[in-house]
Amino acid sequence: MSWDIFCELYQVGARYRNAHIGKCDKLPEHLIDEGIEWCKKPKSLLIHGSSGRGKTYLTYCLLREAMRLYGLHQIRWVKSKALDDQILQAFSQYGTTTDTIRKFSEINLLFIDDFGVDRGSERTERDYYELIDNRWEHMKPTVITTNLTPEHIEKTYGSRIFSRLKDFKWISFEGLPDLRGENQCR
Ligand SMILES: Nc1ncnc2c1ncn2[C@@H]1O[C@H](COP(=O)(O)OP(=O)(O)OP(=O)(O)O)[C@@H](O)[C@H]1O
Ligand SMILES: [Mg+2]
Repeated sequence: MSWDIFCELYQVGARYRNAHIGKCDKLPEHLIDEGIEWCKKPKSLLIHGSSGRGKTYLTYCLLREAMRLYGLHQIRWVKSKALDDQILQAFSQYGTTTDTIRKFSEINLLFIDDFGVDRGSERTERDYYELIDNRWEHMKPTVITTNLTPEHIEKTYGSRIFSRLKDFKWISFEGLPDLRGENQCR
């Protein structure tokens, strides 16, 4: 499937449609290199940092390249909130979240954007634990972006999730400029 068709089908926002790891000049070189390395062998990443630094944009660059190299089969990109909504809906409809969590556990390469927006209830902690534990156990690459600091992740989701996230490669976007508002007339 071409990138353009993918964008139409999955309603990728206009702000991310130009995402391409080969034309990513607003990203520092060491992060582009990380991205290029990742494409050769996708692994679990935790991309963290403040708003507007380009975390989501990078995930689309990675997804686009992964799709080109490995096909779309078994790749999913989902916002954390939408994932949580699906889990909640399954619970209200069927009284169980098992099938939904299994579905997301089995995807070969999963991107979860904005981890931590649905923070901190016992239920989210339990559901995310199950999902992350399943994926961790079967060594399925998961790419997570979040605004939370490492300390907040541990506080919000508990030590069992945090412990598994320690096996992810952590990439910090702290210290980079906020890319939003760059072209605004002041
Ligand atoms: N490498 C890049 N080249 C060109 N534009 C970029 C790049 N990275 C990000 N942008 C643009 O900068 C803006 C902010 O990027 P993005 O949405 O990825 O930030 P974010 O770190 O995910 O922020 P948040 O934490 O608020 O979700 C977007 O409009 C995006 O299109
Ligand atoms: Mg984002």
